[in-house]
Amino acid sequence: MARDKVTIVGAGKVGATTAHIAATKQLGDIVLLDIAEGLAEGKALDIAQAGSIQLYGPNIIGTRDWQMSADSHLVIITSGLPRKPGMSRDDLLTKNVQIVKDVSQQIAKHSPNSIVIVVCNPLDAMVYTAAKITGFARNKVMGMAGTLDSARFSYFLASELDVSVEDIKCVLMGGHGDDMVPLPRFTSVSGIPITELLDEDKIAELIERTRKGGIEVVNLLGYSAYYAPAAGVVKMAEAILKDKKTLMSCCAYCDSEYDAGGYFVGVPAILGKNGVEKIVALDLNDSELAQFKKSLAHVKHLAQQVDGLL
Ligand code: LAC
Repeated sequence: MARDKVTIVGAGKVGATTAHIAATKQLGDIVLLDIAEGLAEGKALDIAQAGSIQLYGPNIIGTRDWQMSADSHLVIITSGLPRKPGMSRDDLLTKNVQIVKDVSQQIAKHSPNSIVIVVCNPLDAMVYTAAKITGFARNKVMGMAGTLDSARFSYFLASELDVSVEDIKCVLMGGHGDDMVPLPRFTSVSGIPITELLDEDKIAELIERTRKGGIEVVNLLGYSAYYAPAAGVVKMAEAILKDKKTLMSCCAYCDSEYDAGGYFVGVPAILGKNGVEKIVALDLNDSELAQFKKSLAHVKHLAQQVDGLL
C-alpha cells in the first residue's frame, strides 16, 4: 500500500516541530515546505538524520517547490506570523489572511483532493480563509485549537489534582481566543466529572489560565508556543490518516450544528479518513450556551473581516 503523503507548509518552529513529531510517528512521507531559502531543506535534513538515532525512516524532504507537494493526502498550514508579547491573536489577521490565501491557492492547485488542517492565527478566521480559497468540501478543512487548549486544561488539572494527565478527558468549544469555552461538566478524570473533585473557584481559576495559556508562553519566550501546538496537530493528522474516528475538540464547519450559521468554530467532532466525519451535538445548559454564543459572535466578526480582505 502506498504511504500517505503529508505536506507541512511553513518550516518555522511549529512546522518543523510538527514534521519531527510526524516523522517519529512514521505518519507517512513528509514534505516540509517554506519560501525561505534553505530553511525547509535544512530542517528536513536535520530531522532525517535524527531518524538514525530515533529509528524512523528518511521519509522527509524539505523544499521551496510546491510541485514536490503534489497529491498530498493531508496538508498542514503552519505558515503565518506568530504572536509577540502585547499582541492578541486577532492582531495577526491582516497579514496572515494573505499568507493563508496564497498557500490555499497552491494547495487547491497541487493537492486538490487533500484534507487541510490550519494551525496559524487567528485560528478560526484562518480556517475560514482556507476553506473559502480552496473551495474544498467543508468536512475536509479544519483547524487545530481544541487539542492544544484541551492539552493545556488537562495539564493544569492533572497538576492541581496530582493525577496522571492521561486520565483527563475534556471538551472545549468556541473560538481559539480568550473567550474559548472549556466545559467542566464534560471534563473528567477517568469518568469522574471534575465538578466532583474541585470547587467552583479552583475550576474557574484553571479555566482562566487555560484561556490565557497561549499568552503565558508568549510572555515567557517572546514568541508563540510550538511544542504543544505541534503535538496537537499531529494528533489530528494521525486520527485522519489512520482513520481512528477520534473524538476531539477541533475547529470545524458548523451550520445548523449549534445554530452556528455556516462558520468554522471549535466543537467536539469525530475525525477519520474523511476529515471531520461528525460534529457531536451536546445539550448545553443556558450558561454554556451563552458563553458559546459570545465566542461564536467573535469568530463571525473576524470571518467578516476576512471577507472584506479577500
Ligand atoms: C497558542 C497560540 C499558538 O495558543 O495560539 O499558543
